[in-house]
Amino acid sequence: MRIDIITIFPDYFAPLELSLIGKARAAGILDIRLHDLRSWTHDRHSTVDDTPYGGGPGMVMKPQPWGEALDSVTAGADAPPRLVLPTPSGTPFTQEHAKRLSREPWLVLACGRYEGVDARVPADAERRMPVEEVSIGDYVLAGGESATLVIVETVSRLLPGVLGNAESAVQDSFASGAMENLLEGPVYTKPAQWRGQEVPPVLLSGDHGAVDRWRRHEALRKTARNRPELLRELAARRMDELERSDRELLLELLEQMPGE
Ligand code: ADE
Repeated sequence: MRIDIITIFPDYFAPLELSLIGKARAAGILDIRLHDLRSWTHDRHSTVDDTPYGGGPGMVMKPQPWGEALDSVTAGADAPPRLVLPTPSGTPFTQEHAKRLSREPWLVLACGRYEGVDARVPADAERRMPVEEVSIGDYVLAGGESATLVIVETVSRLLPGVLGNAESAVQDSFASGAMENLLEGPVYTKPAQWRGQEVPPVLLSGDHGAVDRWRRHEALRKTARNRPELLRELAARRMDELERSDRELLLELLEQMPGE
């Protein structure tokens, strides 16, 4: 997959040289290209922003550098990329969203700063390529850079060959069927005793069926605690797909949950 990132802070993306993503780049699975938006400015101060029409606080990113940057990055391509604009006013970024993006051959991420980018930039880009505005959560960041890191990392680890065997195995454990939208329960490693705490004995039992059931139950408990709405959704839609002990625990947890 090719990913172009346009930003006024290319140095912000140094972490993309580390760890899984760094290795995927070295292996040729990921082709990440960074572009400094200021290289498409033409004035002495490399100006990228200006005051908003209609008044109000803050500054707005000028359309001209963005228009030229997008023209230049996409020039000569057979098929256009998908343009992703991180913004707090975008559609929510989810794992499903990431899966869809991971099937694209080419993404361009355009990092806005200040109060945003002139609205004619996405409207103009849409004449030539699919464009989507994406929010990584209901809070306001100082710019699209950290959101872009989140999106790139989430999409990259879904590409074939990016995760090693150890990691993909963890991802696969009960990440399917009715329970796939639950939170992961607790995990443990050696030693079996640490600061007076023991690893749950079932994990040392060698009984794979019992271990799987325990993990499903812990996932149900964790979800009840941290994301009760996900548990209500499971109960409303997919109760009949659960095996008996899971269903019984789910009903018990629902009963203990405070009402709306
Ligand atoms: N830019 C500023 N806040 C953002 C958010 N929550 N998601 C994506 N981009 C942003």
